[in-house]
Amino acid sequence: MLKGKVVVVGVTGSIAAYKSAQLVSDLVKLGCEVHVIMTQNALNFINPITFETLTGNKCLVDTFDRNFEFNVTHVSLSQKADVFIIAPASANIIGKLANGIADDMLSTMVMAAKCTTLIAPAMNKYMFMNSIVQENIAKLQRHNFKIIQPAVGRLACNDTGVGKLPDVDVLIDYIRHEISCEKDYAGLKVLITAGPTQESLDPVRYITNHSSGKMGYALAQAASDRGAEVVLVSGSVHIKPPLFAQCKNVLSAEDMFHAVAEELSDSDVVIMAAAVADYTPDSYSDRKIKKSDSDMSIPLKRTTDILQYAGDNKPDGQIICGFSMETENLMENSKKKLQKKHCDMIAANSIRQNGAGFGTDTNIITLITRNHTTELPLMSKTDAAHQILDHILKLKKS
Ligand code: CTP
Repeated sequence: MLKGKVVVVGVTGSIAAYKSAQLVSDLVKLGCEVHVIMTQNALNFINPITFETLTGNKCLVDTFDRNFEFNVTHVSLSQKADVFIIAPASANIIGKLANGIADDMLSTMVMAAKCTTLIAPAMNKYMFMNSIVQENIAKLQRHNFKIIQPAVGRLACNDTGVGKLPDVDVLIDYIRHEISCEKDYAGLKVLITAGPTQESLDPVRYITNHSSGKMGYALAQAASDRGAEVVLVSGSVHIKPPLFAQCKNVLSAEDMFHAVAEELSDSDVVIMAAAVADYTPDSYSDRKIKKSDSDMSIPLKRTTDILQYAGDNKPDGQIICGFSMETENLMENSKKKLQKKHCDMIAANSIRQNGAGFGTDTNIITLITRNHTTELPLMSKTDAAHQILDHILKLKKS
Protein backbone atom coordinates (compact mmCIF):
# COMPACT_ATOMS: atom_id res chain seq x y z
CA MET A 1 0.00 0.00 0.00
CA LEU A 2 2.96 2.33 0.56
CA LYS A 3 5.03 0.92 -2.31
CA GLY A 4 6.59 3.66 -4.44
CA LYS A 5 5.44 6.49 -2.16
CA VAL A 6 7.93 9.27 -1.50
CA VAL A 7 8.31 9.95 2.21
CA VAL A 8 10.51 12.75 3.51
CA VAL A 9 11.55 12.22 7.13
CA GLY A 10 12.76 15.26 9.08
CA VAL A 11 14.94 14.47 12.09
CA THR A 12 15.59 17.14 14.71
CA GLY A 13 17.65 17.45 17.88
CA SER A 14 15.92 15.16 20.33
CA ILE A 15 17.25 12.04 22.04
CA ALA A 16 14.44 10.13 20.29
CA ALA A 17 16.31 10.68 17.00
CA TYR A 18 17.69 7.14 17.32
CA LYS A 19 14.15 5.82 16.74
CA SER A 20 14.03 7.60 13.36
CA ALA A 21 16.47 4.99 12.03
CA GLN A 22 13.90 2.26 12.70
CA LEU A 23 11.16 4.37 11.12
CA VAL A 24 13.25 4.91 8.01
CA SER A 25 14.26 1.25 7.82
CA ASP A 26 10.62 0.09 8.12
CA LEU A 27 9.47 2.57 5.47
CA VAL A 28 12.17 1.34 3.07
CA LYS A 29 11.07 -2.27 3.73
CA LEU A 30 7.49 -1.26 2.87
CA GLY A 31 8.76 -0.09 -0.53
CA CYS A 32 8.84 3.68 0.06
CA GLU A 33 11.39 6.01 -1.46
CA VAL A 34 12.69 7.71 1.68
CA HIS A 35 14.66 10.93 1.95
CA VAL A 36 15.97 12.15 5.30
CA ILE A 37 16.65 15.74 6.25
CA MET A 38 18.43 16.42 9.51
CA THR A 39 18.83 19.64 11.43
CA GLN A 40 22.30 20.61 12.66
CA ASN A 41 21.18 19.76 16.21
CA ALA A 42 20.11 16.26 15.16
CA LEU A 43 23.75 15.59 14.21
CA ASN A 44 24.50 15.55 17.95
CA PHE A 45 22.30 12.47 18.34
CA ILE A 46 22.65 10.38 15.16
CA ASN A 47 25.00 10.18 12.19
CA PRO A 48 23.71 10.89 8.64
CA ILE A 49 25.57 7.81 7.42
CA THR A 50 22.97 5.67 9.21
CA PHE A 51 20.18 7.20 7.12
CA GLU A 52 22.22 7.22 3.91
CA THR A 53 22.92 3.50 4.32
CA LEU A 54 19.27 2.71 5.06
CA THR A 55 17.76 4.83 2.27
CA GLY A 56 20.43 4.79 -0.42
CA ASN A 57 19.89 8.55 -0.67
CA LYS A 58 22.03 11.46 0.43
CA CYS A 59 20.93 12.70 3.85
CA LEU A 60 20.31 16.43 3.56
CA VAL A 61 21.48 18.70 6.34
CA ASP A 62 22.23 22.24 5.37
CA THR A 63 20.67 24.56 2.76
CA PHE A 64 24.09 25.70 1.62
CA ASP A 65 25.60 22.29 1.03
CA ARG A 66 26.27 22.39 -2.75
CA ASN A 67 27.50 18.87 -2.94
CA PHE A 68 24.46 16.95 -3.97
CA GLU A 69 21.54 16.54 -6.30
CA PHE A 70 19.00 18.69 -4.46
CA ASN A 71 21.41 21.49 -3.52
CA VAL A 72 19.62 24.41 -5.15
CA THR A 73 16.36 22.82 -6.11
CA HIS A 74 15.33 21.60 -2.66
CA VAL A 75 11.90 22.65 -3.76
CA SER A 76 11.77 19.71 -6.21
CA LEU A 77 11.88 17.16 -3.37
CA SER A 78 9.27 19.16 -1.51
CA GLN A 79 7.04 18.96 -4.56
CA LYS A 80 7.71 15.28 -5.22
CA ALA A 81 7.01 14.11 -1.65
CA ASP A 82 3.75 12.29 -0.89
CA VAL A 83 4.15 13.12 2.79
CA PHE A 84 6.57 14.81 5.17
CA ILE A 85 6.99 13.51 8.69
CA ILE A 86 9.11 15.27 11.30
CA ALA A 87 9.92 12.62 13.91
CA PRO A 88 11.13 13.52 16.43
CA ALA A 89 10.06 17.16 16.25
CA SER A 90 11.82 19.35 18.84
CA ALA A 91 10.26 22.44 20.45
CA ASN A 92 12.67 24.43 18.26
CA ILE A 93 11.42 23.16 14.86
CA ILE A 94 7.80 23.47 16.06
CA GLY A 95 8.48 27.08 17.04
CA LYS A 96 10.20 27.84 13.74
CA LEU A 97 7.48 26.35 11.55
CA ALA A 98 4.71 27.99 13.56
CA ASN A 99 6.34 31.36 13.02
CA GLY A 100 7.32 31.05 9.38
CA ILE A 101 11.06 30.83 10.01
CA ALA A 102 12.88 28.97 7.24
CA ASP A 103 16.55 29.19 8.10
CA ASP A 104 17.77 25.67 7.40
CA MET A 105 17.16 22.81 5.00
CA LEU A 106 14.33 21.16 6.95
CA SER A 107 12.32 24.29 7.72
CA THR A 108 12.86 25.56 4.16
CA MET A 109 11.67 22.31 2.58
CA VAL A 110 8.63 21.98 4.82
CA MET A 111 7.70 25.54 3.93
CA ALA A 112 7.84 24.61 0.24
CA ALA A 113 5.91 21.33 0.61
CA LYS A 114 2.61 20.75 -1.19
CA CYS A 115 1.79 17.59 0.74
CA THR A 116 0.72 17.07 4.35
CA THR A 117 3.36 17.41 7.06
CA LEU A 118 3.00 15.14 10.07
CA ILE A 119 4.68 16.42 13.22
CA ALA A 120 5.61 14.02 16.03
CA PRO A 121 6.76 16.15 18.99
CA ALA A 122 9.19 14.45 21.39
CA MET A 123 10.65 16.32 24.33
CA ASN A 124 10.68 16.71 28.09
CA LYS A 125 7.14 16.82 29.54
CA TYR A 126 7.57 20.34 30.96
CA MET A 127 8.77 21.60 27.58
CA PHE A 128 5.84 19.91 25.86
CA MET A 129 3.33 21.37 28.31
CA ASN A 130 4.89 24.84 28.05
CA SER A 131 2.15 27.21 26.92
CA ILE A 132 4.29 28.64 24.11
CA VAL A 133 4.95 25.16 22.69
CA GLN A 134 1.23 24.33 23.03
CA GLU A 135 0.29 27.57 21.31
CA ASN A 136 2.71 26.83 18.48
CA ILE A 137 1.26 23.31 18.09
CA ALA A 138 -2.27 24.72 17.99
CA LYS A 139 -1.15 27.23 15.36
CA LEU A 140 0.41 24.49 13.23
CA GLN A 141 -2.87 22.54 13.43
CA ARG A 142 -4.77 25.59 12.23
CA HIS A 143 -2.40 25.65 9.26
CA ASN A 144 -3.19 22.00 8.40
CA PHE A 145 -0.10 20.38 9.90
CA LYS A 146 -1.12 17.09 11.53
CA ILE A 147 0.17 16.49 15.02
CA ILE A 148 0.94 12.96 16.23
CA GLN A 149 0.40 13.24 19.97
CA PRO A 150 3.43 12.11 21.99
CA ALA A 151 3.11 9.00 24.12
CA VAL A 152 3.20 8.95 27.91
CA GLY A 153 5.99 7.05 29.66
CA ARG A 154 9.45 7.27 31.10
CA LEU A 155 11.38 10.00 29.33
CA ALA A 156 15.12 10.09 28.66
CA CYS A 157 15.53 12.82 31.30
CA ASN A 158 14.19 10.34 33.92
CA ASP A 159 10.88 12.18 34.25
CA THR A 160 7.70 10.23 33.62
CA GLY A 161 4.98 11.89 31.61
CA VAL A 162 3.92 12.99 28.16
CA GLY A 163 6.65 13.62 25.58
CA LYS A 164 7.82 10.24 24.25
CA LEU A 165 8.02 9.66 20.52
CA PRO A 166 5.25 7.10 19.83
CA ASP A 167 6.18 3.59 18.63
CA VAL A 168 7.35 3.38 15.04
CA ASP A 169 4.21 1.31 14.22
CA VAL A 170 2.07 4.27 15.25
CA LEU A 171 4.10 6.68 13.10
CA ILE A 172 3.69 4.31 10.14
CA ASP A 173 -0.06 4.04 10.81
CA TYR A 174 -0.27 7.82 10.49
CA ILE A 175 1.71 7.78 7.24
CA ARG A 176 -0.39 4.94 5.83
CA HIS A 177 -3.60 6.68 6.82
CA GLU A 178 -2.41 9.83 5.10
CA ILE A 179 -1.16 8.47 1.78
CA SER A 180 -1.82 4.78 1.16
CA CYS A 181 -5.20 5.07 -0.52
CA GLU A 182 -7.44 7.31 -2.54
CA LYS A 183 -10.01 8.74 -0.10
CA ASP A 184 -13.02 7.39 -1.97
CA TYR A 185 -14.88 6.65 1.31
CA ALA A 186 -14.47 10.19 2.66
CA GLY A 187 -17.71 11.39 4.22
CA LEU A 188 -19.09 7.85 4.66
CA LYS A 189 -19.68 6.17 8.00
CA VAL A 190 -18.92 2.45 7.86
CA LEU A 191 -20.11 0.16 10.64
CA ILE A 192 -18.29 -3.19 10.84
CA THR A 193 -18.76 -6.18 13.13
CA ALA A 194 -15.82 -8.52 13.63
CA GLY A 195 -14.58 -11.45 15.68
CA PRO A 196 -16.45 -14.10 17.65
CA THR A 197 -19.16 -13.63 20.23
CA GLN A 198 -19.09 -15.52 23.54
CA GLU A 199 -22.11 -16.95 25.33
CA SER A 200 -21.54 -17.67 29.01
CA LEU A 201 -22.67 -21.04 30.32
CA ASP A 202 -21.83 -20.25 33.91
CA PRO A 203 -19.40 -17.85 35.61
CA VAL A 204 -16.46 -19.92 34.34
CA ARG A 205 -17.30 -21.42 30.94
CA TYR A 206 -18.57 -20.06 27.65
CA ILE A 207 -19.39 -21.13 24.09
CA THR A 208 -17.59 -19.36 21.26
CA ASN A 209 -16.20 -20.07 17.79
CA HIS A 210 -12.87 -19.96 15.94
CA SER A 211 -13.24 -16.49 14.41
CA SER A 212 -9.94 -14.56 14.67
CA GLY A 213 -11.48 -11.24 13.59
CA LYS A 214 -8.84 -10.83 10.86
CA MET A 215 -11.34 -10.27 8.01
CA GLY A 216 -13.36 -7.67 9.92
CA TYR A 217 -10.24 -5.88 11.11
CA ALA A 218 -8.81 -5.85 7.56
CA LEU A 219 -12.09 -4.27 6.43
CA ALA A 220 -11.91 -1.67 9.21
CA GLN A 221 -8.31 -0.81 8.32
CA ALA A 222 -9.06 -0.60 4.60
CA ALA A 223 -12.19 1.54 5.06
CA SER A 224 -10.30 3.84 7.41
CA ASP A 225 -7.37 4.14 4.97
CA ARG A 226 -9.92 5.06 2.28
CA GLY A 227 -11.16 7.94 4.39
CA ALA A 228 -14.28 6.46 6.01
CA GLU A 229 -15.36 7.15 9.56
CA VAL A 230 -15.21 3.60 10.90
CA VAL A 231 -17.01 2.12 13.89
CA LEU A 232 -15.75 -1.38 14.62
CA VAL A 233 -17.90 -3.51 16.94
CA SER A 234 -15.61 -6.32 17.94
CA GLY A 235 -15.86 -9.55 19.87
CA SER A 236 -12.85 -10.70 21.87
CA VAL A 237 -9.82 -10.98 19.55
CA HIS A 238 -6.05 -10.66 19.73
CA ILE A 239 -5.53 -7.97 17.10
CA LYS A 240 -4.68 -4.31 17.58
CA PRO A 241 -7.62 -2.20 16.37
CA PRO A 242 -6.93 0.20 13.52
CA LEU A 243 -5.70 3.51 14.94
CA PHE A 244 -8.33 5.65 13.29
CA ALA A 245 -11.36 3.40 13.89
CA GLN A 246 -13.66 3.82 16.86
CA CYS A 247 -13.63 0.38 18.47
CA LYS A 248 -16.49 -0.88 20.65
CA ASN A 249 -15.55 -4.11 22.41
CA VAL A 250 -18.31 -6.59 23.18
CA LEU A 251 -18.56 -10.18 24.38
CA SER A 252 -22.00 -11.67 23.77
CA ALA A 253 -24.35 -11.53 20.77
CA GLU A 254 -26.68 -9.42 22.91
CA ASP A 255 -23.88 -6.87 23.62
CA MET A 256 -23.03 -6.82 19.92
CA PHE A 257 -26.67 -6.27 19.00
CA HIS A 258 -26.96 -3.25 21.31
CA ALA A 259 -23.64 -1.74 20.14
CA VAL A 260 -24.70 -2.15 16.50
CA ALA A 261 -28.24 -0.86 17.08
CA GLU A 262 -26.83 2.40 18.50
CA GLU A 263 -24.81 3.06 15.34
CA LEU A 264 -27.13 1.73 12.63
CA SER A 265 -29.37 4.63 11.72
CA ASP A 266 -26.64 7.03 10.56
CA SER A 267 -24.29 4.46 8.99
CA ASP A 268 -23.91 4.64 5.21
CA VAL A 269 -22.42 1.17 4.94
CA VAL A 270 -22.86 -1.81 7.27
CA ILE A 271 -20.59 -4.85 7.00
CA MET A 272 -21.20 -7.76 9.34
CA ALA A 273 -18.11 -9.92 9.38
CA ALA A 274 -18.56 -11.20 12.94
CA ALA A 275 -19.12 -14.88 13.61
CA VAL A 276 -22.10 -14.52 15.92
CA ALA A 277 -23.01 -17.55 18.02
CA ASP A 278 -26.48 -18.65 16.92
CA TYR A 279 -27.44 -19.99 20.35
CA THR A 280 -27.11 -18.86 23.94
CA PRO A 281 -28.05 -20.70 27.14
CA ASP A 282 -31.61 -20.04 28.23
CA SER A 283 -32.40 -18.74 31.74
CA TYR A 284 -28.76 -18.47 32.81
CA SER A 285 -29.45 -17.53 36.42
CA ASP A 286 -31.66 -20.53 37.29
CA ARG A 287 -29.49 -23.15 35.73
CA LYS A 288 -26.79 -25.26 37.23
CA ILE A 289 -24.44 -27.25 35.07
CA LYS A 290 -23.79 -30.66 36.44
CA LYS A 291 -20.20 -31.79 36.36
CA SER A 292 -21.05 -35.34 35.28
CA ASP A 293 -20.73 -36.11 31.55
CA SER A 294 -24.13 -37.74 31.56
CA ASP A 295 -25.95 -34.51 32.42
CA MET A 296 -24.55 -31.74 30.23
CA SER A 297 -27.79 -30.87 28.47
CA ILE A 298 -28.29 -27.13 28.47
CA PRO A 299 -31.50 -25.42 27.37
CA LEU A 300 -30.65 -23.04 24.53
CA LYS A 301 -32.39 -20.16 22.79
CA ARG A 302 -31.46 -18.38 19.55
CA THR A 303 -29.50 -15.14 19.74
CA THR A 304 -30.88 -12.03 18.09
CA ASP A 305 -29.98 -12.10 14.39
CA ILE A 306 -28.18 -8.76 14.16
CA LEU A 307 -27.88 -8.78 10.38
CA GLN A 308 -31.57 -9.60 10.03
CA TYR A 309 -32.41 -6.68 12.33
CA ALA A 310 -30.21 -4.34 10.28
CA GLY A 311 -31.77 -5.56 7.00
CA ASP A 312 -35.30 -5.16 8.37
CA ASN A 313 -34.57 -1.59 9.51
CA LYS A 314 -32.43 -0.39 6.62
CA PRO A 315 -32.61 3.37 5.98
CA ASP A 316 -32.75 4.56 2.36
CA GLY A 317 -29.40 4.52 0.64
CA GLN A 318 -27.65 2.35 3.23
CA ILE A 319 -25.69 -0.61 1.84
CA ILE A 320 -25.58 -3.77 3.92
CA CYS A 321 -23.06 -6.54 3.37
CA GLY A 322 -23.35 -9.77 5.33
CA PHE A 323 -20.92 -12.65 5.41
CA SER A 324 -21.76 -16.29 5.10
CA MET A 325 -19.57 -19.13 6.10
CA GLU A 326 -20.83 -22.45 4.86
CA THR A 327 -19.59 -26.01 4.95
CA GLU A 328 -21.88 -27.05 2.05
CA ASN A 329 -24.20 -25.55 -0.60
CA LEU A 330 -22.28 -22.27 -0.38
CA MET A 331 -24.00 -20.46 -3.25
CA GLU A 332 -27.51 -21.68 -2.56
CA ASN A 333 -27.39 -20.88 1.17
CA SER A 334 -25.70 -17.51 0.61
CA LYS A 335 -28.33 -16.46 -1.93
CA LYS A 336 -31.04 -17.44 0.55
CA LYS A 337 -29.34 -15.26 3.22
CA LEU A 338 -29.15 -12.32 0.80
CA GLN A 339 -32.94 -12.48 0.27
CA LYS A 340 -34.01 -13.37 3.78
CA LYS A 341 -31.80 -10.82 5.58
CA HIS A 342 -32.49 -8.02 3.03
CA CYS A 343 -28.81 -7.48 2.30
CA ASP A 344 -27.30 -5.78 -0.74
CA MET A 345 -24.36 -8.16 -0.82
CA ILE A 346 -23.18 -11.38 0.77
CA ALA A 347 -19.48 -12.16 0.97
CA ALA A 348 -19.55 -15.92 0.94
CA ASN A 349 -16.65 -18.06 2.04
CA SER A 350 -16.38 -21.78 2.20
CA ILE A 351 -14.51 -23.08 5.20
CA ARG A 352 -13.67 -26.23 3.28
CA GLN A 353 -11.13 -24.54 0.96
CA ASN A 354 -7.44 -24.24 1.88
CA GLY A 355 -6.46 -20.63 2.55
CA ALA A 356 -10.03 -19.54 3.34
CA GLY A 357 -11.98 -18.99 6.53
CA PHE A 358 -11.05 -18.66 10.19
CA GLY A 359 -7.59 -17.66 11.41
CA THR A 360 -5.79 -17.46 8.05
CA ASP A 361 -4.32 -14.27 6.54
CA THR A 362 -5.92 -15.12 3.19
CA ASN A 363 -9.44 -15.71 2.00
CA ILE A 364 -11.40 -17.00 -0.99
CA ILE A 365 -14.61 -15.03 -1.29
CA THR A 366 -17.54 -14.96 -3.67
CA LEU A 367 -19.45 -11.71 -3.73
CA ILE A 368 -23.15 -12.20 -4.32
CA THR A 369 -25.54 -9.36 -5.10
CA ARG A 370 -29.10 -9.56 -6.47
CA ASN A 371 -27.85 -9.46 -10.06
CA HIS A 372 -24.23 -10.55 -10.01
CA THR A 373 -21.92 -13.18 -8.63
CA THR A 374 -18.18 -12.42 -8.56
CA GLU A 375 -15.76 -15.15 -7.61
CA LEU A 376 -12.55 -13.70 -6.18
CA PRO A 377 -9.37 -15.82 -6.24
CA LEU A 378 -7.27 -16.62 -3.16
CA MET A 379 -5.89 -13.33 -1.85
CA SER A 380 -4.81 -11.64 1.37
CA LYS A 381 -7.61 -10.51 3.67
CA THR A 382 -6.41 -6.94 3.08
CA ASP A 383 -6.84 -7.30 -0.69
CA ALA A 384 -10.19 -9.05 -0.18
CA ALA A 385 -11.28 -6.16 2.06
CA HIS A 386 -10.48 -3.64 -0.66
CA GLN A 387 -12.37 -5.72 -3.27
CA ILE A 388 -15.41 -5.86 -0.98
CA LEU A 389 -15.22 -2.08 -0.46
CA ASP A 390 -14.87 -1.52 -4.24
CA HIS A 391 -18.05 -3.54 -4.85
CA ILE A 392 -19.94 -1.75 -2.07
CA LEU A 393 -19.00 1.63 -3.52
CA LYS A 394 -20.30 0.55 -6.93
CA LEU A 395 -23.60 -0.53 -5.32
CA LYS A 396 -23.78 2.77 -3.45
CA LYS A 397 -23.33 4.75 -6.64
CA SER A 398 -25.73 2.63 -8.76
N1 CTP B 1 -25.29 -12.88 11.96
C1 CTP B 1 -25.78 -11.96 12.85
N2 CTP B 1 -26.41 -12.34 13.99
C2 CTP B 1 -26.57 -13.64 14.27
C3 CTP B 1 -26.08 -14.62 13.38
C4 CTP B 1 -25.45 -14.21 12.24
O1 CTP B 1 -25.60 -10.76 12.58
N3 CTP B 1 -27.18 -13.99 15.41
C5 CTP B 1 -24.67 -12.42 10.72
C6 CTP B 1 -23.21 -12.78 10.57
O2 CTP B 1 -22.34 -11.76 11.08
C7 CTP B 1 -23.06 -12.91 9.06
C8 CTP B 1 -24.43 -13.38 8.62
O3 CTP B 1 -25.34 -13.06 9.68
O4 CTP B 1 -22.84 -11.64 8.46
C9 CTP B 1 -24.54 -14.82 8.31
O5 CTP B 1 -24.07 -15.55 9.42
P1 CTP B 1 -24.10 -17.15 9.40
O6 CTP B 1 -23.68 -17.65 10.74
O7 CTP B 1 -23.40 -17.66 8.17
O8 CTP B 1 -25.63 -17.41 9.12
P2 CTP B 1 -26.87 -17.65 10.01
O9 CTP B 1 -27.91 -16.70 9.55
O10 CTP B 1 -26.53 -17.62 11.46
O11 CTP B 1 -27.29 -19.08 9.54
P3 CTP B 1 -26.56 -20.50 9.71
O12 CTP B 1 -25.58 -20.38 10.83
O13 CTP B 1 -27.67 -21.40 10.01
O14 CTP B 1 -25.93 -20.76 8.38
